[in-house]
Amino acid sequence: MDKYEKVFELAKRRGFLWNSFELYGGSRGFYDYGPLGCALKRRIEQIWREFYVIQEGFMEIECPTIGIEEVFIASGHVGGFSDPLCECMNCKEAFRADHLVEDVTNAAGALSAEDLTKVIKEKGITCPECGGELGEAYEFNLMFKTTIGPGTGRQGYLRPETAQGMFVDFPRLARFYRDKLPFGAVQIGKSYRNEIAPRQGVIRLREFTQAECEIFVDPRNKKHPNFERFADKELVLYSQKGQVKGEPFRMTVGEAVKTGVIAHEVLGYNIALTNEFLTKIGIDPAKLRFRQHLTDEMAHYAVDCWDAEIETDRFGWVEVVGIADRTDYDLKAHARVSKTELYVYVEYEEPKMVTRFTVKPNMGKLGPVFKGKAKAVADALKQLSEEELSKDEIKVTVDGEELTVSSDAVDFAEETVKVSGENVIPHVIEPSYGIDRIFYGIMEHAYDEENVAQKAAESGLKGTEEAGKESEAEGEEETRLVMHFASEVAPVQVAVLPLLTREELAEPARDIIARLREKNLLVNYDDSGTIGRRYRRNDEIGTPYCVTVDYDTLKDGTVTIRDRDSMRQIRTPITGIENVLYELIYK
Ligand code: GAP
Repeated sequence: MDKYEKVFELAKRRGFLWNSFELYGGSRGFYDYGPLGCALKRRIEQIWREFYVIQEGFMEIECPTIGIEEVFIASGHVGGFSDPLCECMNCKEAFRADHLVEDVTNAAGALSAEDLTKVIKEKGITCPECGGELGEAYEFNLMFKTTIGPGTGRQGYLRPETAQGMFVDFPRLARFYRDKLPFGAVQIGKSYRNEIAPRQGVIRLREFTQAECEIFVDPRNKKHPNFERFADKELVLYSQKGQVKGEPFRMTVGEAVKTGVIAHEVLGYNIALTNEFLTKIGIDPAKLRFRQHLTDEMAHYAVDCWDAEIETDRFGWVEVVGIADRTDYDLKAHARVSKTELYVYVEYEEPKMVTRFTVKPNMGKLGPVFKGKAKAVADALKQLSEEELSKDEIKVTVDGEELTVSSDAVDFAEETVKVSGENVIPHVIEPSYGIDRIFYGIMEHAYDEENVAQKAAESGLKGTEEAGKESEAEGEEETRLVMHFASEVAPVQVAVLPLLTREELAEPARDIIARLREKNLLVNYDDSGTIGRRYRRNDEIGTPYCVTVDYDTLKDGTVTIRDRDSMRQIRTPITGIENVLYELIYK
């Protein structure tokens, strides 16, 4: 078994992840989060909220997961959100054509479906399932279609990203934030993509959870007010613009922005913040890097994008977060399709005197055909470009009618006026997190198999009472499976274990549970099996602390707290135990 299989075996057995619809044989690309999986996922989401909503101050909104067609026409998803699909003519299995070609040539890049078909034929690539002949590749749109309302209804799509809701709500958001750039909004919720061949557990799902943040910034100022916070932070970057082309290198965020490796401070700050978040929740820093997209892999809306990638045993480096500079692409696109101007009015610190070129019709020289239309003509003239105005005969459209104005009948002038601000279409910087991939990354990076005797010796437990309790569980096998979850995300933070199932021990255990729940700690009561077996069970679900109630508790009101990683124990009074554990967990 490779690590992926081991992690999945544990995840299924202990109630983290289950195949959806298992009773009916399952369906690829869908997973259920079991009781512990859900608890762990919620912890990840909650800490994400603490970062982005509480610390960064970007308020959360919630939009429908179904979108109307116009939204996705504007966003470009109807036209271009597709992957090249290729079907086996024999077994009818579908594959990503670019992946098939990549596996053989190592260079699929951004080949068109037509080119992929050619390579498949030339290289004689056959169906990986049955060896059958492959059909022509074609672009397959990844959005799930649906109908809104009864009858023929209205065309809708399940959203492929949460982002669009935040762009569509832009005028409301701008008003909420009183037109003060920068501002931002976040959404945590489900997104849907009809992936062609999801065969990688929760890494490629057809329904998955995104946590996205859209930060609207002034395009003329991509500096970040708190940039200094991360300027000295060293990250592993992997960039075409790097010092060593095509090789990952370490560089501080400050240096990367200064040398142009990272284009600007807002991007640099958000890359560093992503690093902070991922390492806090348990992604191994040695298996984390930030890779800049190549021009040909960039999404249609981005001018720059950095992926946070984590290293996994089976799939190599996997993208878990994309941090993109989407410029004004989305706001302009929605403005065009909705026919609504989307901008904020940015006031200057000091009003400016601006010289303007003005045009107005000369009433004396306009012919009778323009009678009563002077204002409309003036407005129409203002819409024209300098080139159009420089012609001898100037065409204007008034009330839907095209009229010709001789240049003699137009007065040109310059005037100096005082302006207090201007309309600005913000640019969007977007950190976009895939929660399911992060969830898997945390599971894999937390997973370990340890030799119990060796671990006990390393922790100085040899020959002690604690070592005795640990070895009770070993039986014939010597290793323990342990999930080294960060204590803040662990689905069970404290297990309370009466040494024996006796009421005199259960009573103080209940008292301890009540104290811990008062502090909002995630607690589990476990009284079945030997104490050693219970430690082992809690190691497997990653419980960082076990509290054991024994007969000394009845004498002196103390209990033991066992640390998952070292297996060491300390004795502590029940009074105040909630504060001791809270400190240990959130230190
Ligand atoms: N709004 C930008 C956006 O959606 P993306 O790179 O397509 O960008 C962002 O997706 C993140 O969502 C990815 O980094 C990944 O973690 C996650 N993601 C994308 N497709 C996924 C899928 N089919 N299954 C699970 N997670 C997925």
